[in-house]
Amino acid sequence: MRLDKKVAIVTGASGGIGQEIVRVFVEQGASVLAADLNGDAVSELADLYGEQVVGFAVDVTDFAAVDAMMEAAVETFGSLDVVISNAGIGNAKMLLDHDPVADFDLVTGVNQKGVYHGILAAGRKFVELGKPGVILNTSSVYGTMASEMSFTYNVSKAAVDMMTKCAALELAPHGIRVVGVAPGRVDTPLLRQYEALGLWEHIRREQMRNEFTQPVEIAKVFAFLASEDANCINGTTVAADDGFLNFKYPLIERTTS
Ligand SMILES: NC(=O)c1ccc[n+]([C@@H]2O[C@H](COP(=O)([O-])OP(=O)(O)OC[C@H]3O[C@@H](n4cnc5c(N)ncnc54)[C@H](O)[C@@H]3O)[C@@H](O)[C@H]2O)c1
Repeated sequence: MRLDKKVAIVTGASGGIGQEIVRVFVEQGASVLAADLNGDAVSELADLYGEQVVGFAVDVTDFAAVDAMMEAAVETFGSLDVVISNAGIGNAKMLLDHDPVADFDLVTGVNQKGVYHGILAAGRKFVELGKPGVILNTSSVYGTMASEMSFTYNVSKAAVDMMTKCAALELAPHGIRVVGVAPGRVDTPLLRQYEALGLWEHIRREQMRNEFTQPVEIAKVFAFLASEDANCINGTTVAADDGFLNFKYPLIERTTS
């Protein structure tokens, strides 16, 4: 199996994409510390898998908690190979409606600072363990494009892309790879906010297949990037977006509905 005997940490593990990363990693032989703000949900998730998965309550905005998460994985499974900073939130709001005190920090605290904490704590832990490791960060197509109602989200994901590059450069001498994944439209609770806004059908058409990407498809990209098959991929963000970044709505109506 591709991830046999690997030990991985996944944050945002009770969410749509996170749960599937846990499942695919277990299928491919890894042991997983499934971490999330929702500690009850990751405990329940862990119960599905026996000893291969342990739940861990974490708030990624708190560096001490993220650091303790690294230690918990090593204590539980005896090692650490892959750290995936996947926790993220959105906050659909037009810029001029922002509360300047709360809104910026709300989203960047989780999406940007949370990933920074993950990179720093994981990098230090891998160096301490004296072994190579892989750090994977969940970005978004919105890290490279502008869109309405998601100012802080896009800013935070652009920062994730740059942190991935800078960290890869500094950590490469230690045998640590750092790679981002930029999904397009994935059918998860986070994306369903667009349903409430009446935009669900509209955003479905932003995919070349004319359908939403499924969380398991993104999880398989993470599994590949975590594996030694991806050793030549470093310091970049891989688009897993079904073409989202490379086309506007086609002029000719596609036949698939
Ligand atoms: N769904 C999409 O279309 C899409 C597209 C591009 C990128 N993404 C990114 O994928 C990642 C996963 O999103 P998802 O779609 O599965 O969303 P989701 O809402 O289903 O899951 C997000 C998870 O993050 C957890 N979380 C939130 N704040 C946290 C904190 N402070 N500490 C720890 N955990 C916290 C939540 O409890 C939740 O379980 C996010 O980074 C998101 O930005 C999603």
